[in-house]
Amino acid sequence: ENDVLGKLPLRGKKVLITAGPTYEAIDPVRFVGNHSSGKMGFEIAKAAANLGAEVTLVSGPSHQTVTHSFINVIRVTSAQEMYDACHNYFENVDIAILSAAVADYRPKNVADQKIKKKESTFTIELEKTKDILKSLGAIKKQQFLVGFALETNNELEFAKGKLVSKNLDLIVLNSLNDKGAGFGGSTNKVTFITASHDTIAHELKSKTEVAQDLMQQILKQTHA
Ligand code: CTP
Ligand code: CA
Repeated sequence: ENDVLGKLPLRGKKVLITAGPTYEAIDPVRFVGNHSSGKMGFEIAKAAANLGAEVTLVSGPSHQTVTHSFINVIRVTSAQEMYDACHNYFENVDIAILSAAVADYRPKNVADQKIKKKESTFTIELEKTKDILKSLGAIKKQQFLVGFALETNNELEFAKGKLVSKNLDLIVLNSLNDKGAGFGGSTNKVTFITASHDTIAHELKSKTEVAQDLMQQILKQTHA
């Protein structure tokens, strides 16, 4: 359906996408994580593949599946594993879209054995994970780099801050204020903010449609 003119705009292009949460181990049976379903990232992968792109989808723990000859799914667990996978592929891609809900912190020490309950309170010390998106922004060359921003307040200001500090070409602001948007559901309400600070607000839509809108925005900005 995207090939009515007999040409796919992203044919021959390589696209890296991250999806889902990351799980940060506390001990062999427990982790720190979040409720990201991975749906948005998997939809972006399908939308890109349907435009002819060769997609590498790096996904944290997620029940989402996809079968498409243009999509290679790499399953990872932790932020560090996602970081390593992204850095393996980034050099050769044309577009990178980081939609994963990466854990910002991980337990500083991981116990070798299951931790037994003892006292009435228990404290876990956390340390920051690496910011994958920021690390790619710092080394990007030809790559068109897209990030997401999940905000509940001062949304535009915070999203623009991330666009600049992570050296992005485009950021997708995900408004958790709006009913029906965000984690778990099948709809999202997004605003695109470009490097030249153009803002394009979209209605509440299915994640499938949001993914298609995002790919069209990227095509526009890259003149593909
Ligand atoms: N991101 C990442 N690696 C991290 C944290 C975030 O690649 N360790 C990426 C996300 O995939 C997303 C973007 O950075 O594309 C913004 O994530 P978000 O959680 O909204 O922002 P943070 O920079 O983590 O800041 P905060 O959570 O404090 O708002
Ligand atoms: Ca974060």
